[in-house]
Amino acid sequence: MSGFVVAIDGPAGAGKSSVSKAVAQRLGFALVDTGALYRCIGYAALEAGLSEDDEQALGALAQAAEISFVTESERNRVFLGEMEVTGLIRTPQVSALASKVSAQPAVRAALLEQQRRLGRRPPGAVLEGRDIGTVVFPDAPLKVFLTATPAERARRRAQDLRAAGEVVDLLALEAQIAERDARDRGRAIAPLKCADDGLELISDGLTIDQVVDRIVTWAKDRGAS
Ligand code: DC
Repeated sequence: MSGFVVAIDGPAGAGKSSVSKAVAQRLGFALVDTGALYRCIGYAALEAGLSEDDEQALGALAQAAEISFVTESERNRVFLGEMEVTGLIRTPQVSALASKVSAQPAVRAALLEQQRRLGRRPPGAVLEGRDIGTVVFPDAPLKVFLTATPAERARRRAQDLRAAGEVVDLLALEAQIAERDARDRGRAIAPLKCADDGLELISDGLTIDQVVDRIVTWAKDRGAS
């Protein structure tokens, strides 16, 4: 039996992670951070010295990768095989690589089944990503496209990185976000976009709680209990 799927897609820095986590908690659903899967492949490719253009090798890597999540109240821990990679997959280098390897069809195909398996758990799951509502769960009862203006997104991402103790160059960050967005939106396969029947939510000027309330209300209106 499948559970209720809430798809939350959108670009980097729109607040998807905090919002998805809170929505999952409020609904008592599992949380699936699909970006972490692509980040794991980016990280593994870096460690293995693979070229970002070597589709065949990257696809094989994604097929073989054993990625698991351990959800704790404070954070979502990510494991690649036996190794914890929670922090290792969040570096700017791995962010850029994750975006590049995610443009490879063989990588997307390998991760598709894994995402569907993780998302089908009853009573439901919140999946955050780029193509959940368009490709992974096109029949999800609720598909949200969460976004914010580029300047707002760069500002929020800078805040997160600073909180993690990193030195931030805001202009460089804006440029990185714009570059990653363009690649994610422009790729031939599963580009980042709002599903035709998705609900677009622009989070500028809204608090996380306000965004979460809106999504939880939509979910309940559609039958999530
Ligand atoms: O959400 P994130 O920043 O952790 O995602 C990292 C990269 O993975 C992002 O640049 C695009 C890719 N990605 C994707 O192509 N499809 C998804 N469902 C999730 C992430």
